[in-house]
Amino acid sequence: MNAPVSIEILKQHLIDPEICIRCNTCEETCPIDAITHDGTNYVVKPDVCNACMACVPPCPTGAIDNWRSVLKADAYSIDEQFTWDVLPEQGTMVPPPPVESQNAPSASSDPTDEADGIEVDTVRGAVVPPWSAARPYVNLYTHKNPTTATVVGNYRLTDEATQSDIHHIVIDFGSMPFPVLEGQSIGILPPGGTADGRTHHARQYSIASPRDGERPGYNNVSLTVKRVTQDYQGNATNGVCSNYLCDLKKGDVVNVIGPFGSTFLMPNHPNSHLLMICTGTGSAPMRAMTEYRRRRRLKGATGKLMLFFGARTKEELPYFGPLTNLPKDFIDTNLAFSRTPGEPKRYVQDAMGERAADVAQMLKDDNTYIYVCGLKGMEDGVLQSLQDIAGQHGLEWDALWQKLKREGRLHLETY
Ligand code: A2P
Repeated sequence: MNAPVSIEILKQHLIDPEICIRCNTCEETCPIDAITHDGTNYVVKPDVCNACMACVPPCPTGAIDNWRSVLKADAYSIDEQFTWDVLPEQGTMVPPPPVESQNAPSASSDPTDEADGIEVDTVRGAVVPPWSAARPYVNLYTHKNPTTATVVGNYRLTDEATQSDIHHIVIDFGSMPFPVLEGQSIGILPPGGTADGRTHHARQYSIASPRDGERPGYNNVSLTVKRVTQDYQGNATNGVCSNYLCDLKKGDVVNVIGPFGSTFLMPNHPNSHLLMICTGTGSAPMRAMTEYRRRRRLKGATGKLMLFFGARTKEELPYFGPLTNLPKDFIDTNLAFSRTPGEPKRYVQDAMGERAADVAQMLKDDNTYIYVCGLKGMEDGVLQSLQDIAGQHGLEWDALWQKLKREGRLHLETY
């Protein structure tokens, strides 16, 4: 008699190339390096992924949350996934495995649905929004189904004499619905395509304006865009989308997808405190939240706002003028400049250390929500600074860190 053939079924984790905005969040989040990418797609290694789900809630689009039941021997290889423009349909050859044998939770349209089951230890920031955050809309417009917006303003924010060319760009959706919340992002589809003939995929930008519009009551949003002139190695290169955006004129029409993001959101209860830490264009969501609070303050919001903002020099700090004009009793602003001639290098974490007693006061308050946005390199330094401050003021950081994450009170977005 023949021995019984063992048919192993894999619930294979896949990323939808039509929805993915290539933001790298999943690759950064994966605790076991199961996600990789080429110039086209982000893909999951079938032999490495253990379906721990750590990557699912942080994904701003939900593109990560796709699963196909396949025979293990026939799993889609990463080389095959790199060639995809669309996900394959679920084949009929393989029945879905019974629930108890599945190695991954079922696909979910709300990435936060699975948050309770995740080892939050593997993720550095919260994977859930603040309890009082408004419900965001996500993915209303996709690569296949973008909408358009018209440029109504494009202003350089940084001093003409500096190298950093950062723009404040306002786009208007006219009568197309495009509801956003502070902390969300949108995708811009630059025109043209890559050398191998593919259309460019979308580039993601944080929204810099509050939910009720850059101009209150208008259907518009603003973005903070830095013209990219170098790659990560410092070699000269022109960023495809940032140069396109920075060169736009009033009246130009852009293709937009999104909105994205369902966790990096602000609390809605008016007595909540915001501790915001950012560098450069990472100021976009902080500007959105601050402006929303400023408008709401007139209606009785009482929570404290404390901001740490780092830039090379005062001339290279986006929104320097408007920011420093905000009333001191509304926002406690701390600027850190790293390249002011004749002065020592100062980073946001140095400024936090100088204000340790006040930061500790905020850390002790269960109504404090922390937001970190900017350069990847700042994440370690900022978390270390929070740990040091907590330690100096009798707080047990590891326990506090877990609590902040569980309660949607520590949000990190670095790039
Ligand atoms: P630096 O002068 O060392 O580059 P950018 O202008 O490149 O967007 O950077 C914004 C600010 O963030 C700059 O002041 C930059 O300083 C600073 N920065 C760079 N690395 C870190 C880091 N690891 N932690 C905090 N700030 C940083």
